[in-house]
Amino acid sequence: MATKKDFLKEVIQHIDIKKHDVVPLVDSMGEMAFSARDLNRAAGIYDKMIKDKECGIILTLAGSLFSAGLKKLVFDLVNNNMVDAIVSTGALMIDQDFFEALGYKHYKGTPFSDDNFLRELHIDRIYDTYIDEDELRVCDETCAKIFNSLEPHPYSSRELLWEFGKYLENNGGPKVDDSVIYAAYKKNVPIFVPAFSDCSAGFGFIIHQTQNPDKHVSIDSAKDFLELTQIKLKSRETGIFMIGGGVPKNFTQDIVVAADILEEDAPMHKYAVQITVADVRDGALSSSTLKEASSWGKVETTFEQMVYSEATVAMPLVAGYAYHKGSWKDRKPREFQKLFTKETVAS
Ligand SMILES: NC(=O)c1ccc[n+]([C@@H]2O[C@H](COP(=O)([O-])OP(=O)(O)OC[C@H]3O[C@@H](n4cnc5c(N)ncnc54)[C@H](O)[C@@H]3O)[C@@H](O)[C@H]2O)c1
Repeated sequence: MATKKDFLKEVIQHIDIKKHDVVPLVDSMGEMAFSARDLNRAAGIYDKMIKDKECGIILTLAGSLFSAGLKKLVFDLVNNNMVDAIVSTGALMIDQDFFEALGYKHYKGTPFSDDNFLRELHIDRIYDTYIDEDELRVCDETCAKIFNSLEPHPYSSRELLWEFGKYLENNGGPKVDDSVIYAAYKKNVPIFVPAFSDCSAGFGFIIHQTQNPDKHVSIDSAKDFLELTQIKLKSRETGIFMIGGGVPKNFTQDIVVAADILEEDAPMHKYAVQITVADVRDGALSSSTLKEASSWGKVETTFEQMVYSEATVAMPLVAGYAYHKGSWKDRKPREFQKLFTKETVAS
């Protein structure tokens, strides 16, 4: 009879965009048609955002990207000043990034598994990827431990993600060299997770709040929105690089409207790229086009591009192109985290 060990053998390896110069490939795609030409234009727009000295870049992340091998890519964007703030799901930041920072892995599996047998072995499946459920439980408990150690009051998710970075720092550093939470902590890149209880941190919250019914840590979601809007007001010009849709997409697009409510004439997002598999016919948020966002006053239409592709294919090409173009080498870190710690932020 197969054991857990037999299933959790081959580790998912994160792609290293630094190793693959995709510039000639992506340039050639620009001479083609359809999705190839769209992707080429998107890569060019991302490079333009990086070149634009006035532009603050916000990366939005949804979907199961880090378990699929895209974590190091985001780590490289943070480390090389190619992104100034991140808006993400909790699954990506906690169940996947923090989980790997604790020393756990994602494993190659198959979509043709016997899921009842996987459940008996405490193995969770994401399409063709396996995770050890017992290790995820340790991640939940570590979240509870972090919450137990904090002053009991409401926090923005940005503040809590910062505390997760500090926890790694104070506990011997991450067990891997490509932790996004830790890189963002070191580089003063704020991370927002607007639906923070919808992940392993949520399990940590219910443990923490049950143990501390009267005084406990909680989430101030409105503070998240205000803080992200303050970044928009500080930066003025912004570009968004969006992977998938979901809450991170809408939250980030909406800061233009929020800024406009607080101060008149806030500029729309000047640059916008979205990589998605969503189908526009459902009229939903995840599938809404950037042109549609323009009707809401959120995104300018001059430099916007949708790329209809699964992220593991398109993201290394778009990010790899911008990395190898090298415009980031002249870019100063914006360190927006310092907006909230009373230190000076580069303008
Ligand atoms: N993904 C997980 O395994 C997982 C695990 C635990 C909790 N959650 C929670 O579920 C909630 C919803 O997560 P979500 O927003 O990631 O939902 P989601 O996976 O439905 O993604 C939102 C949209 O993004 C697009 N998308 C997703 N993956 C993509 C890909 N690989 N390539 C291109 N486009 C893609 C699709 O249009 C999708 O409808 C979050 O709060 C998250 O924390 C997710």
